[in-house]
This record gives sequence, C-alpha cells and structure tokens, in this order.
Amino acid sequence: MKAGGLELKGLTKRFGELVAVRDLSFDVRPGEVFGFVGSNGAGKTTTMRVVLGTLIADSGDVQWDGSPIAFEVRRRIGYMPEERGLYPKMRIGEQLVYLAQLHGATEAAAAGSVARWLERFQLKERARDELQTLSHGNQQRVQLAAALSFEPLMLVLDEPFAGLDPEAVDSMSEVLHEQAQAGIPVIFSSHQLEIVERICDRVGIIQGGSLVACGTIDELRGRGLRQLWVDTPSAPQGWIGSLSGVRIVRTDGTRILIELDASTDDQAILRAALATGPVQEFRADKPSLLDIFREAMTEHTAAAAS
Ligand SMILES: Nc1ncnc2c1ncn2[C@@H]1O[C@H](COP(=O)(O)OP(=O)(O)OP(=O)(O)O)[C@@H](O)[C@H]1O
Ligand SMILES: [Mg+2]
Repeated sequence: MKAGGLELKGLTKRFGELVAVRDLSFDVRPGEVFGFVGSNGAGKTTTMRVVLGTLIADSGDVQWDGSPIAFEVRRRIGYMPEERGLYPKMRIGEQLVYLAQLHGATEAAAAGSVARWLERFQLKERARDELQTLSHGNQQRVQLAAALSFEPLMLVLDEPFAGLDPEAVDSMSEVLHEQAQAGIPVIFSSHQLEIVERICDRVGIIQGGSLVACGTIDELRGRGLRQLWVDTPSAPQGWIGSLSGVRIVRTDGTRILIELDASTDDQAILRAALATGPVQEFRADKPSLLDIFREAMTEHTAAAAS
C-alpha cells in the first residue's frame, strides 16, 4: 500500500460540557515531520486519539489519502500513547513481536523487524528481559520500536521526547526523519519547543482545542514578529518602557531583546538608544518557536476575550 497523507477536517470532540477539540483542521503530508504543540490540556492527546479511532469525534472527519480513514489504515498507525502502552512484566522481544502481529505483521516479518529495531536501539542483549528492568529512556526506545515494527503507514507519537537525554533525543529524531524520508507522515506532540523547532518541517499550535497557528517555522515567523537585541550599558533603567510599539521579550545582563509592533520604525528605536549613550549592540534576531508560541497564545487569548 502506498503511503498517503493524513487530513483532519473540522474535528470537534466534547467531553460533556467541555469542548476538548474545536473545529480542528490540518494535514500531515507524506515525508514531513509535523510538530503538534500546545499547553497542558490544549487538546493534543484527544486529537491523536481521534486519529487513532480510540475516541470518536462528535463531528468532522479524519481522512487518509483523500478518503475517510479505514480500519485497515488505522491498524497500521504507529502510535506512541502518552500513558505508554506496554506490558512491564513481559519480555521485551516477545511483546514487540506479539504487538506487531496485532497490527497485521506475520510472525516471521515481526520477528525480523523487531530484531532490527532492537539492534538499532542497542537493546538486542535486553530482548529477553522484562520491560520494567529498563531505564525510562530505554523503555521509550522500546515504545518507539513497538510503533515501527509493523511497517506503519504513519507515525502518531504523543510526547516521544519526554524525559530523554540529548543523545537519545538526537537518535530518536534521526529515526523520525528517516521514516519521513521513506514517505510516511510523522506527527508528534511535545512541550520541548527547541526540539520541535530543530526537527520539524511544519508545526501546528493548538490552544483551548482550536488550531491558532500552522505552518513552517519561517511562515510562522512571517506573521509580523520583529525582534532586536539592544545593548545600551549606560542607559537609565526602564528607558525602553518609555518607547511605544515595543515590548521586552527578555533581558540578559544589560542586553535586552525587544519585539517591535508592525508599525514601529527600528531606526527610531536606534536613535532613542543612541540618545541614552553608547550602543554596543543593535541586531535583528529571529524569534524562536517559544516566542512564536507565546505570541500566538496572547493573540488568541485577546481574540477570545473581545
Ligand atoms: N476522557 C476524558 N474525559 C473528560 N475530559 C477529558 C478526557 N480526556 C481529556 N479531557 C479533557 O480534554 C482537554 C484536552 O485534554 P488533552 O489530554 O487532549 O490535552 P493535551 O493537549 O494532550 O495536554 P497535555 O499537554 O497535558 O498532555 C482537557 O481539558 C482534559 O481535561
Ligand atoms: Mg497530552
């Protein structure tokens, strides 16, 4: 079966009075790594469960390759659940083979694939051990192996990087990129925005169940955020506060990162800076995903309040 894209169309999911996901639409294309970010309770896990089919949406559609997603496709989603779904007391190799078969692999194919992934994750020697005897990071690798060992059509990973050391983050992101390059859509959720920024082709930001931004990092940056590092060591404290159309993002000693409104003239800021004394730094900076995220949160909260 050829890999296709995942498309969410107008998904809404309620739990009683609470609207956990509200009219959510976006797609994850073959060959891309898509980062799904949002605060606690924003609706990421709920969305993933609706994609998986473990939750039924109140309205909207999940489509695969342009058609409503079929059971056979859902069965071949490599899913890493938030609560992790493996058996602590079962031997690692055995349970991986068993799980791959549940997802449609033959026993021989499952055994081959599991052996390859365990080797890749340097866990071959642990195949006969109980899962619970592994460290957190290694259990996470086993969980990823479980999502990969039946040749999934797509990967849906709920916080796969949580609790991993930097080396493990790198090896996991390498695997995700390889999978994407092989043509499968990869979506994962994370609170580690610097990882998301580094490894994703596109990002979706969800707040209160609604998608508030979606695109490549550069596209999201293009939404008008302009930032400048300004260093005026002899300026009186708070001088920036007297300028209009300027917001302080953070400070680092005497250096201040400011964000300009679309209509603010950076040359006027430079003149104001020079008027305070020597200017040691005046430099445009690209906003980070964290800055973009905060901006999207503020805009959305302001829009919801008005
Ligand atoms: N089974 C459930 N019954 C009732 N409410 C639920 C259920 N599952 C989730 N919710 C609520 O739906 C909202 C979205 O939760 P969800 O778990 O999707 O958020 P999340 O973005 O994954 O958050 P986190 O970053 O903390 O994992 C929250 O308000 C949560 O309390
Ligand atoms: Mg969650």
